[in-house]
Amino acid sequence: MESKLLQSLNEGPINDTGSWTKDQGLPHDDTLVGAILRLEGLRMIVSKINESKITAPTAEGSEIIEKGSPEYQIFQAIPSGSSKSKSELEALSKIGFMQAMKSQWIAIDKASGAVTRKVEDISDSTKDQLLHVRDHPEDADPKIVDALKKRKLVSLSNRKTYTLTKGENFALEVVKPAADLTAEMLSSGSWKDTKFKDYNLDADATRPASGHFHPLLKVRSEYREIFLELGFTEMPTNSFVENCFWNFDTLMVPQQHPARDLQDTFFLSDPATSRTFPEDYLKRVQTMHEEGGSESIGWRYPWKRDETTKNILRTHTTAVSARMLYKLAQDGFKPKKYFSIDRVFRNETLDATHLAEFHQIEGVIADYDLTLGDLIGLFSQFYARLGIEKLRFKPAFNPYTEPSMEIFSYHEGLKKWVEVGNSGIFRPEMLIPMGIPKDVKVLAWGLSLERPTMIKYGISNIRELIGHKTSIQKIQDNPVCRLDA
Ligand code: PHE
Repeated sequence: MESKLLQSLNEGPINDTGSWTKDQGLPHDDTLVGAILRLEGLRMIVSKINESKITAPTAEGSEIIEKGSPEYQIFQAIPSGSSKSKSELEALSKIGFMQAMKSQWIAIDKASGAVTRKVEDISDSTKDQLLHVRDHPEDADPKIVDALKKRKLVSLSNRKTYTLTKGENFALEVVKPAADLTAEMLSSGSWKDTKFKDYNLDADATRPASGHFHPLLKVRSEYREIFLELGFTEMPTNSFVENCFWNFDTLMVPQQHPARDLQDTFFLSDPATSRTFPEDYLKRVQTMHEEGGSESIGWRYPWKRDETTKNILRTHTTAVSARMLYKLAQDGFKPKKYFSIDRVFRNETLDATHLAEFHQIEGVIADYDLTLGDLIGLFSQFYARLGIEKLRFKPAFNPYTEPSMEIFSYHEGLKKWVEVGNSGIFRPEMLIPMGIPKDVKVLAWGLSLERPTMIKYGISNIRELIGHKTSIQKIQDNPVCRLDA
């Protein structure tokens, strides 16, 4: 079949394999289609499918082509010069018996019921007609087709034929290309003349085994990218254990503030306290709490060292910002932009959206003469990169910022305003003991990483995101994160 196709194509394109097979006296069958696919795979030919409606034998019709018509089978069941009983023949096929009688192929002796052949030579015209319809449907007699249709031996079905032209590797003979480069080919040099099989770039590959990023890590890397593009430096957040001095006191959170209660904060039992502090600075912090200074009257309470030395799991990454700003002041202040994205811990009542640990995204900008306008301007820049355009601000309170603002954005998917961050300008009471110059203002803001991740990935219960109820499969399957899209 393959060489027949190639011979023909050598003389010119095959416009339609339907008429080509007819001219060749060949059936349009699986052998032909197999040959076309093979030659095309070798790029020796190019095929185009033509679809048409065509009359073709039904399952019953195909059975007749194979075994002969029922009447033919009845005739064959009667040996020449002998007889069979009517009941025996009817058991084979009632319809076949009736048809054979009608065609006057057989006769019955009324008295004995014995059936004999009436003629010796018959032709099975039903089978012949079906064969003709199958192999040359184009020029089947419509009257015959109609009759066969009525008997449900043929029906209209889809047929695929092909238009064939020469391909880039056309040749009169099929040369099976080599699939592998062997050591022998290399040593004999035969690889130079060997025709190699093309790469099948459409083949489905198996997925290589690999690790998968958790959605939180994907979203984190997007935020990181934004901060880095805006010129921020990442703060070291690798210590989850902090003490109350850096987590609360440096931030002017008074020692009797409810956030410092056992119900809100995890305290360490071993080691329960920290020992080393920058003592000068600690003294200045104590004074600011007790008496104030530089236009502030302070919180006015007896400040206790025992409270400040306690070890805790940090409740916010603002503790790290405090450490960094103190260090910046000691090193000789220069304008700086810092960020961090890491884990914090709170003794929360657990529910669908709260766990005892979560991630905070934190940004800090320290520069001369910054204003609330700079803070608002910064947010339009920062949030625009997250694809958030509509922002609203609400006055809020933090012990360490004044003024403070909660940031809301309109979520087009959820159709409501959602809180997307907390922010403010650090109080002079916090910055002056550190040694930050007086005319320097420090803008800061923080947001959770879980919230945008859950919105982005359509997760409503935080336990589906973190913890033992998380589906590993979902982690493997979840898509890449583009915050602006
Ligand atoms: N630390 C605040 C919180 O935990 C967030 C914040 C950071 C607010 C910086 C103002 C400035 O919610």
